Amino acid sequence: MDVERATPSDVEAVGALLRAANLPLDGAAEALRLGVVARDDAGIVAAAGVERYGEAGLLRSVVVAADRRGYGLGRVVVEAAEDLARSERIRDLYLVTETAAGWFPRLGYTVVERAVADAAVGASIELTTVCRDTGVTMRRRLT
Ligand SMILES: CC(C)(COP(=O)(O)OP(=O)(O)OC[C@H]1O[C@@H](n2cnc3c(N)ncnc32)[C@H](O)[C@@H]1OP(=O)(O)O)[C@@H](O)C(=O)NCCC(=O)NCCS
Repeated sequence: MDVERATPSDVEAVGALLRAANLPLDGAAEALRLGVVARDDAGIVAAAGVERYGEAGLLRSVVVAADRRGYGLGRVVVEAAEDLARSERIRDLYLVTETAAGWFPRLGYTVVERAVADAAVGASIELTTVCRDTGVTMRRRLT
């Protein structure tokens, strides 16, 4: 299993994973500019991306292929995306999730008020449209 920086040629395959997981596609290509993919012989099996807003980032497009879940791949791609964010001097990572609020605390994320995220990551596509009303907002401070 290789975990690598995402490239523009990965966008289509990651889009297929996101579509299969019913996750938003809007803005995903942009987030993958600061993103990672995990691939094996079958192709891309997991991804995570970060949208940058100054010293804050929005973690998004975290996805693992359905038949590869439960083997720690989700943790691997999130930690790789965090390393990438740190290398870009991002201090806080935010996310909005409708499906995985029970999972992200394992990786150090805690629930914050939506207003805190709005102040930090502003008018992101995900915050303003897709999960605006129903998602749980979480944050991890990167040290
Ligand atoms: C959420 C997701 C990325 C986790 O990836 P993964 O590779 O399966 O995660 P890991 O192997 O690192 O962790 C697995 C553990 O987390 C638990 N877990 C997985 N998804 C969970 C969820 N959505 N909520 C709560 N717990 C979850 C599993 O039960 C397992 O628990 P165990 O260790 O006690 O057996 C993956 O399930 C996925 O792609 N889901 C669909 C897309 C999605 O919801 N992405 C998040 C969008 S913000």
